Order: sequence, then C-alpha cells, then structure tokens
Amino acid sequence: MAQPNGYSSRKRRYRHQQQPAGTKPAEKRLPKIFFCGDPHGQFDQINWAATQFKPDAVVILGDLQPAAPIEEVLGPALAVTQVWWIPGNHDTDTEEIYDRLWKGPIAAHNLNGRVVNIAGVSIAGLGGVFRGQIWMPDGPVNYQSPAEFLQNASRVNTWRGGLPRRHRSSIFPSVYQALMRQRADILVTHEAAGCHKKGFEAIDRLARAMKAKRIFHGHQHEDVTFASYKGLRVRAVGFRGVVDIEGNVIVEAQIDPRDLLVMQQAGMEPSPEVFDTIDRMPVVDIFSSHPVRRGEKGPFRDRRRDESRKDGRARQPRRSKDRK
Ligand SMILES: [Fe+2]
Ligand SMILES: [Fe+2]
Repeated sequence: MAQPNGYSSRKRRYRHQQQPAGTKPAEKRLPKIFFCGDPHGQFDQINWAATQFKPDAVVILGDLQPAAPIEEVLGPALAVTQVWWIPGNHDTDTEEIYDRLWKGPIAAHNLNGRVVNIAGVSIAGLGGVFRGQIWMPDGPVNYQSPAEFLQNASRVNTWRGGLPRRHRSSIFPSVYQALMRQRADILVTHEAAGCHKKGFEAIDRLARAMKAKRIFHGHQHEDVTFASYKGLRVRAVGFRGVVDIEGNVIVEAQIDPRDLLVMQQAGMEPSPEVFDTIDRMPVVDIFSSHPVRRGEKGPFRDRRRDESRKDGRARQPRRSKDRK
C-alpha cells in the first residue's frame, strides 16, 4: 500500500522483517580514531597513544607547530597508523612550520575544506581561524575567497605569489560554504563550537548543515565534554590531550602554559591538580608496554605518583568533591 508521502512501503516492510520485534538495530561499530588537541611542537603523547593502541587513524586538531621534520617528530605514529590534520592559526607562523606541514609527508592528509572517509567514518575538516580582515561571523564578509583577496591585494601583500602566509590559516567563506553543501559524520575544527564561551555558532550551523553529529575542536586549550547541544556532541580537546571517537580520554590534556604563567604572575600556588599536568611529558617512554585500561589515568600520572615533587614538599592529598 502506498504511503501518504509517496514513499514505498516495501522498504519499511523489509526493515521490519529484518528486525525482530523488541530489538534495536545493531549499532554501527565506531572505528578507533583518536583526536589530538593542539600539540604546539610536542608529539610524544600522539606517538605514545598510536604505538600503544594502534588506532585506525589519528586526527590532529591544529597548532601542530613541528619543530623538526614531520617524519622525525611523528615517526612512531606514522609507522603504525594514518595521521590526518587540520591547520591551526599558529601553523602559518613561520616558513619552516608551514613547509613541514604543507610540503611534508602528511601534506596530502590535510582535511581542511574537504570530507574524507577515514576508517569507515566521513570526517569533514575546517582548519584555521576566523579573522576580521577576511570574515568574522556573523559580521560582513570582506573577502569571499582567496581569489577575491588576491584580486584586491597589493603585490607586497602576497607570499610566494599567492595568499599571505598568515591568511593560509584564515577561514574564507568560500571554503566554509563549500563544506556546507556536503555531508559528514564528524566535523573537526580548530575554532570552537558555539557552546564554548569563545566559540562560534557558525561552527554549529556548519555541523548541522552537514548532518554531522559530533564536533571535535582544539584551539582553546581546554578539555571539555559538553552536554548534548543542538543535537550535537561537542568535544573540546585540551592542550596536548588525546581522546577517542567517544570523547574518552586516552592521554590527559596539560594545562595551557599561558594559564600557568598568569597564575604565577598573580602569586597563586597551583593546586595539586595543576601540578599533575606540568612537565608530564619528559618522563614518558613512548614505547612503554604499560597497559592502560578504561578508568585508569594512563602511565603519565602513574609514573608521576612515584616521583617526589621538585620543590621537595610532599604532595597534598586531593580533597574529595563531597568534602567541604
Ligand atoms: Fe590555535
Ligand atoms: Fe593552540
């Protein structure tokens, strides 16, 4: 019998026959993809997570700032998995950083402005940041596309005959709109979504237009799992943190050094929680065979527990949240 909306009933009947009453359809198995917060030149946490867990892929959410060639800094990860990335605002800071990313061994894995099927999941990437000289949502558009910028740019305002390097990590409306016309399961961005206090609703609109259900972003150096928001699952991945596709912590994020500096300048004593995130990386043996099970904090904290504090004082026990 024809459905009122003209949709054939055959498909519905088939689905019904395939699915015994009272059971839910089998959920699509999610691949093991890790999302990595801003490394800012430090890649041990990514190499460790990759060699330890051998994920299907890792996606780096911008601000990589490699201090050496990619094959050196990400060698262990590249040996065991595929490494994808989007640029952050600091990835165009110098010529060396730019060339290591855009001309190095992961250049073809730049997700910016496109959708790629990675391990069975379609992932869209929007790298870079909104800059007022180009477009600051929801303000007026100054330059619709790189081509329009170049038409109006003086010769001194170009780099290598094209866009100034800085604007190679700026978001142009043309790139954003081209993504809007596509579909993806996951959207990865450097800029934060609208639920973040410094985020943009333009990111939410993009995810919704693309029918993406999950957003992973970096840039703000804060590790936050937001409550369900506009039908989206938003995961802010913190500074040098690594999470899986469900947002579970694989490697805990570190405190943003800028926040620590502000605390020190204000004469504040960092709490034990803050100490837990400082200089964690230098003690890491990335080939450690220490297993990490769900619920554990990983080898970084375990090792640090055995260490005495540098200032010689005993670590204070943590207060329970219930205790006031
Ligand atoms: Fe950034
Ligand atoms: Fe950053």
